[in-house]
Amino acid sequence: MASFLETAAEIAREAGTLVANYGERRIGFELKGDFDLVTEADRASERLIVERLKSHFPGHSIVAEEGGGQEGASEYRWYVDPLDGTTNFAHGFPAFNVTLGLERSGELIAGVIFDPLRDELFAAEKGGGAYLNHRRIQVSPVARLETSLVATGFPSRKRHENVNVHFFYQLAMLTHGVRRAGAAALDLAYVACGRLDAFWEFGLNPWDVAAGVLLIREAGGVCSDMRGGDLNLRGPHILADNGALHDEIVKLFGEIFAGQYRFPLPAVTS
Ligand code: IPD
Ligand code: CA
Ligand code: CA
Repeated sequence: MASFLETAAEIAREAGTLVANYGERRIGFELKGDFDLVTEADRASERLIVERLKSHFPGHSIVAEEGGGQEGASEYRWYVDPLDGTTNFAHGFPAFNVTLGLERSGELIAGVIFDPLRDELFAAEKGGGAYLNHRRIQVSPVARLETSLVATGFPSRKRHENVNVHFFYQLAMLTHGVRRAGAAALDLAYVACGRLDAFWEFGLNPWDVAAGVLLIREAGGVCSDMRGGDLNLRGPHILADNGALHDEIVKLFGEIFAGQYRFPLPAVTS
């Protein structure tokens, strides 16, 4: 019988291919909130994933972003983001993915992130390491922020309440750069394989991060909240890094949370 991971990978590939085909047709989008987009591709991908999960694993709980999941009595719970990076997708910006994470009794045990445009499948199983297209991956060895490349994101909802611009600016001054590509699961996958050295964001949901967190841990990295405390998938923020940078980032974030900025914003003079 196929493992949870093999089945999840097969489903993510199928859903990712479906999403990419919608992309080629340049479909329109609707607004979920003022700025929160949803497309026909999000819904079709979710229908496909939920249908496949139900047929392979009847009774498992499924938490899916567009609301098509189900509560089950089982100890297994799937987190499904049928299209992560919807805003990119709707604009034809090539950074989106399909991601599925599986918990057993509250512990992450399997996760996949599939990027259909690059044909990259990131996969991890608890205790089994992390892989990109069947090749073992590891976090980067970068040990100083000043030689790191990091990433973050901003929510589409309630942007006016988001304080991340403070963190963004300090990190932009202290690193080789801060990337903001608009697909949180891919950012996490890139930390797992060493393309990025750290990632943080406020207000993500469990379906955005479940698979990526397991990938990073299996690739030798560290995931916590932004204060360095235990990560709660439903918590207010996440910090994911290669481990070597962890203490330096937690210290810096502690200063920013306390309102102490190493680099004040320059005044606009012209
Ligand atoms: C979004 C993306 C984005 C992040 C947002 C998420 P969605 O997911 O991951 O990078 O900054 O906070 O909501 O809505 O495209 O699945
Ligand atoms: Ca998402
Ligand atoms: Ca989504």
